Amino acid sequence: MKRRALLALGLGGFAAAVGRRYWPQVTDNYLATAAGNDALLNFMAAGDVGTGEREQHAVAQAMVQRQRLATSPLVLLTGDNIYENGEIEKVDRVFEQPYAELLRQNTKFYAALGNHDIRTNNGEDQLSYSGYNMAGRYYTFSRQAVQFFALDTTQAIDSDDKSPWRSQLDWFETELRRSQAPWKIVFAHHPIYSSGQHGSQQTLIDDLSPLFAEHGVQLYINGHDHNYERTEPIDGTTYITSGNGAKLRPVDRSDWTAHASSQLGFTAFSVYADRIEVKAIDTDNTPYDEVSIALTGTQGAFAPGARSPSLA
Ligand SMILES: [Fe+2]
Repeated sequence: MKRRALLALGLGGFAAAVGRRYWPQVTDNYLATAAGNDALLNFMAAGDVGTGEREQHAVAQAMVQRQRLATSPLVLLTGDNIYENGEIEKVDRVFEQPYAELLRQNTKFYAALGNHDIRTNNGEDQLSYSGYNMAGRYYTFSRQAVQFFALDTTQAIDSDDKSPWRSQLDWFETELRRSQAPWKIVFAHHPIYSSGQHGSQQTLIDDLSPLFAEHGVQLYINGHDHNYERTEPIDGTTYITSGNGAKLRPVDRSDWTAHASSQLGFTAFSVYADRIEVKAIDTDNTPYDEVSIALTGTQGAFAPGARSPSLA
């Protein structure tokens, strides 16, 4: 199925998709529209960013523009933070330079480990790098009404020894049970539901989705597949692939797909007491997908009158 999608897109189409303008064209409409500054919390997510190439810089510039509309104190990185092998000596080129303006504004990045990140020293160098704010291979932190959980899904996918993953699941279940937060958001590298090249991961469907349903996790955000995809709610959880932060691959669709596309960008979230507004934004600063997620996990359009007709 994935190969068919690749062929269907064709080399020409893919080159055209990759060859979009790399520097953001900010429209008056976008800048004129207040979006999210009345929220409890704004944050952004970007994945598979660690190339240091112009595509990463283009997405980073779009994120800076987003800051002008909706100040986001934090950014989630969904793994593969440093290509090709997680070499920490590249962190200046693939993190500090591309995100210099965001860092200057004191935006705090919280990273998850990707499969490329653990190829050097099992990711330990990234764990101890202060810019990634990782309290461990998996960790949790809270902001406003949101509790975030970062998982190390490579332990589930690429490791023969599943005992570390079992320990991680025990920790995760304990933290979920202990949580009083109305919003629970999990981020990690590997997709659970995906129509991208790597596709859905049955191990994670089996191990994580029942916990999400039982404990009311409204959002799971991942990378690994180099595209954007949002699912319809599946047992109350919306799954968002935000792996288009520097590289692109084609994406197919599945029965549960609400939106899937292959273009560079990041995902912006505005958290309110009763909803989280999600926008997928490209390097032209144009939102190409938006949805409102309720506390119960259902999806809907933005509240009438809460926003201008502009998607921004
Ligand atoms: Fe990956």
